[in-house]
Amino acid sequence: MNKRVTRLYPLPSGEYSLQGLYLEQALHAPGCPDKPFVYSNFITSLDGRIAIASKDRATHLVPTAITNPRDWRLYQELAGQADLLITSGRFFRQLKIDEAQDVLPVSTHANYADIRDWRSRHGLPPQPDIAILSRSLAIPLESLEAYRDRRILVVTGSAADPRRIDQLTAAGIDVLFAGSGTGATGDELVAKLADQGYRSLYTIAGPDVLHTLLEAGVLDRLYLTITHQLLAGDDYDTLTRGSLLAPALGMQLRSLYLDTHAPDGASQWFSVFETRRA
Ligand SMILES: NC(=O)c1ccc[n+]([C@@H]2O[C@H](COP(=O)([O-])OP(=O)(O)OC[C@H]3O[C@@H](n4cnc5c(N)ncnc54)[C@H](OP(=O)(O)O)[C@@H]3O)[C@@H](O)[C@H]2O)c1
Repeated sequence: MNKRVTRLYPLPSGEYSLQGLYLEQALHAPGCPDKPFVYSNFITSLDGRIAIASKDRATHLVPTAITNPRDWRLYQELAGQADLLITSGRFFRQLKIDEAQDVLPVSTHANYADIRDWRSRHGLPPQPDIAILSRSLAIPLESLEAYRDRRILVVTGSAADPRRIDQLTAAGIDVLFAGSGTGATGDELVAKLADQGYRSLYTIAGPDVLHTLLEAGVLDRLYLTITHQLLAGDDYDTLTRGSLLAPALGMQLRSLYLDTHAPDGASQWFSVFETRRA
């Protein structure tokens, strides 16, 4: 982790330590009571793959070729600054069948002790709370057990299955309604989470959840690691999907770092984009 990255933007260029690169951004601070700061993070190949089907799995896998500890370090640093993680029903179903990429951050591994210390120094609880977005409410309760040390919320629409809502509430899970259909809309989601007192929301779900946020114009910042690899494949996920965003959502590059030390046999960019607001 002590190999440095090169800042390409903004200029002037320079060499920076990877450790602390994102943690120093203090993302717990910019949110305000009626508008939490909303940020998301993805890793993608050069040809835009975030997850690919594989013969031996029921669900798509984040390609092992692109995952690497240096990107994972930054993923954990972003989680370190969050009041709340936004994940999905899909994650807990993957957890149940042992296909999830990893447990939810912040990691308790010794390598990330500085991130946990950072949280404590900045008055944040040891772990961010968890919001699970789901339309189906097919959330295996046993997969939640490992996270009972934090508050767990499920966010859905008011037309979601009442039987499943009852099962969740009976298990001590708070259910919030953030839309009139079966799912949540981005603006109601953020408003409801603001009402609960959350100021920094870190979205670690996939393309559908990202679309929910983009469509409502509530995403503030996108952290995007692009590995310099081409994967091809026929059955894959990319950053977002859903109805066309019209007009296209313009984003502004905030920073760009070149990392020549991972993944194996390639390099990667750590890019940060902000949504361009009128
Ligand atoms: N490379 C990366 O950085 C990266 C990042 C994230 C994910 N991934 C991978 O990408 C793959 C695809 O992700 P995914 O399709 O599972 O994630 P997703 O497209 O974000 O959606 C997952 C689930 O979220 C719930 N959901 C989404 N929008 C909602 C809304 N507006 N209201 C209520 N619920 C909503 C639904 O849950 P229910 O089905 O429970 O209704 C949906 O099935 C996965 O294999 C994942 O591991 C990769």
